[in-house]
Amino acid sequence: MPTKRNRRNRVILFVLATVATALALYFYLSSFGYHLPTGESANWQRIPIVVLTALLGYLTVRALNAALFDFVLRLRRRYEAPTLVRNIFTLLAFTILFVVIFKYVYPSYDLGALFTTSAIFGVIIGLALQDTLGNFFAGLSLHADRPFQVGDVIVVGDHTGVVEGITWRAIKLRTFQNHIVLIANSAAGKEPIEVSPRDNLNARLVFFGTLYSDSPAKTIHVVKEAVRDADNVSERIKPIVRIRNFGDSSIDWEVKYWLEDYAKYNDTDALVRQRIWYAFRRSGITFAFPTRTLYLERTTKAEPVPAEDQIADRLSAVPIFSPLSADELKQLAAATMGHVFAPGETLIRAGDEGSSMFVVYSGRVAVQVADAAGPRTVAELTEGNFFGEMALFTGEPRTANVVALEETAVLEIGHAAMKHLFETNPGLAESISWTIAERQADLAKGSEAAAQTSLHETAGLLSSIKRFFGLR
Ligand code: CMP
Repeated sequence: MPTKRNRRNRVILFVLATVATALALYFYLSSFGYHLPTGESANWQRIPIVVLTALLGYLTVRALNAALFDFVLRLRRRYEAPTLVRNIFTLLAFTILFVVIFKYVYPSYDLGALFTTSAIFGVIIGLALQDTLGNFFAGLSLHADRPFQVGDVIVVGDHTGVVEGITWRAIKLRTFQNHIVLIANSAAGKEPIEVSPRDNLNARLVFFGTLYSDSPAKTIHVVKEAVRDADNVSERIKPIVRIRNFGDSSIDWEVKYWLEDYAKYNDTDALVRQRIWYAFRRSGITFAFPTRTLYLERTTKAEPVPAEDQIADRLSAVPIFSPLSADELKQLAAATMGHVFAPGETLIRAGDEGSSMFVVYSGRVAVQVADAAGPRTVAELTEGNFFGEMALFTGEPRTANVVALEETAVLEIGHAAMKHLFETNPGLAESISWTIAERQADLAKGSEAAAQTSLHETAGLLSSIKRFFGLR
């Protein structure tokens, strides 16, 4: 809306322009003794007269327009004419005025013939004005139909908003994000338009779901009460609550209510949802959430699952298990769990608790310890090698990181399976304690506090393994 100050400035500008044009015309005519120029170059000398009179005419038409639509009609009939009607009035009045002036200044020229005989001129004008005229006529039909008015909420294509005006070119919408969208009249003419008139009770639907265990009669009552006194929900028509569908995991509902001011439907929908939530909370009704019945199968081996015989084969190739009989190997194979790791994944983290050891079934891992300079690889282990035995047999935290260098499948052997093996194979604990001692020596090599490994320490290890596993 133009402010008062703006309007005053425009009036001053308008008066100044009119005075300047009138003066220019006056002085120009006075140089020819207030007559139309005659003589050889009369045609050229008459051009400023046409331009200045046309300009003066245009300003007069604008003044008439304002007088007619802003004062007379508004005061007498309280009627506010749409912009398009005003524009058409201005255009028509100005065209008539222009023709009259032209006829007066150039009586010997036939203006009609000038327009109708020039085919090229017609084509150029036609092409140039194609869109403009399309919008203009679509605007005319919108005004004739009056399908919506200023203040109505409309949906055109992807746009929803309140109509702020309809000009000869476009519909002006204010969206609910307070943006202005201009939709060309011709484009709007091709789209379906959904209109929610301003002075009409327009309805809204809000959807929700409840559990099958909640009573429908109670839900209907609770929701009706909750929605009834929400702001902007009309009291003239009672809200309707009904079941839309028996869904997979919920009874699907809709509540329909009518709005006093449809332009505020976003806020009202939100308030209605909020009221329903509180009402449900008070009355013990539960919103449904997606539920699924799952049938779980418990497997002991992760993919890929090698056959037990293959596992037993692989275990028999591990040096520390070579003393085991075929039966014992099979029992051990049955007690293992398979895991697959991606390249770069950490299988074991230094410092963690650990109660199982691993045999590499396929792939390759690196044993790494952290030095000041970064991770240092102390060993690479491949198929048939084992790791993780130190924490398992001593109860100490993991001594190193073990990282997969490529896709690696490992077999995990837990405390219980090893205890059983120790009981039946007393020599096993000894051979494992040797491996542990060697590895401890390797680990200490690079570190600052280099440790000495000796047979005594191996003996110490053996007795601690026996103690840890409760062996004699
Ligand atoms: P644990 O301490 O349980 O976890 C880290 C594992 O890395 C450790 O058991 C050993 O199995 C393994 N490991 C440590 N040092 C070496 C090494 N020098 N050579 C091979 N494997 C090792």
